[in-house]
Amino acid sequence: EKNGFDHFMLKEIFEQPQTIFDSLRGRLDGGQQTITLSGVDKIADKLMAANRIIIVACGTSWHAGLLAEYVIEELCRINVEVEYASEFRYRNPIITDKDVIIAISQSGETADTLVAIETAKKQGATIFGLVNVVGSSIARLSDAGAYTHAGPEIGVASTKAFTAQLAVLYLIALKVAKVKNTITDDLYSVLVTDLVKVPEHVQQILETQDQNIREIAAKYTDARDFLYLGRGYNFPIALEGALKLKEISYIHAEGYPAAEMKHGPIALVDEHLPVVFVATKDSYHEKIVSNIQEIKARKGKVVAVVSEGDNTVTSLTDDVMVVPLVHEIIAPILSVVPLQLLSYYIGVNRGLDVDKPRNLAKSVTVE
Ligand code: M6R
Repeated sequence: EKNGFDHFMLKEIFEQPQTIFDSLRGRLDGGQQTITLSGVDKIADKLMAANRIIIVACGTSWHAGLLAEYVIEELCRINVEVEYASEFRYRNPIITDKDVIIAISQSGETADTLVAIETAKKQGATIFGLVNVVGSSIARLSDAGAYTHAGPEIGVASTKAFTAQLAVLYLIALKVAKVKNTITDDLYSVLVTDLVKVPEHVQQILETQDQNIREIAAKYTDARDFLYLGRGYNFPIALEGALKLKEISYIHAEGYPAAEMKHGPIALVDEHLPVVFVATKDSYHEKIVSNIQEIKARKGKVVAVVSEGDNTVTSLTDDVMVVPLVHEIIAPILSVVPLQLLSYYIGVNRGLDVDKPRNLAKSVTVE
């Protein structure tokens, strides 16, 4: 069943070109540049009139939601709030029938997410489910939705489900932006073109980086702590990279917005601390370059995810993982792939059960 791979996690990482393709298929027409999402059409009136969108999720799905906040606010000019389902459900939030809630869940069975939307639904909110498991509880409770087509995810660490969530969230944002006319034709066209190419770009990362990342993993297998830093669209990816490493390798890892490091975490930096920068080219690239310099000045080890051809960062760092250069909004779906592989190989090097890390369940159906 593992198709020749040593673990489900690795198999699922390598399935991503296909699962992202499947999640876009029949929805994104690259030639016509049209997006078909019947679930969005179904609640289009609500979405257009929405005061805000609230995204509720847990864990990796919450990270997808955080990126969606950045993308939807930028492209659709709708206010978005991202909530941990467990906090949202207990803190008596203010909900009205003008609110649209997007619940993101691979399993569709996460108890906190399920109860959060049940409560919001009673208060009149419209629920849109972004779920992988067909017919699951969250899918059934939603007023409308879109499935991710990642297929069954067996590894406890979410990998292909996450990139499928991002693919569909990009479609939702682009579709709403187009209807609301909050995006220029040029930007729409650039993003659609980059989105169509994601499956082949992920394939390219897997082919060109796998061996390189094995070697990088070997160097850092015995690290005690890791810091993951990113800015803007790459900040949620820094959080996701850190979560993946924690659960798979049991190494303590923290994700932080790169500029926040000066407000505390920089005190941790010494020659023993690997710092992973998600540093693909974007509109404030020079800012992250100076953050890298700050770490180097304190003798931290820097590993960076960089865009192809970016020699500035490469010359500053100890190790680089290279991804194709795409628009900064689409870049995160590529940047996460090397981080998945890094945590996988570190976990394997440490002799751990990467498919079933201790203390974790695939779906958290208890509070
Ligand atoms: O099934 P869900 O997407 O609702 O699950 C949410 C989290 O439990 C899940 O993403 C968890 O954080 C993963 N183990 C992360 O790899």
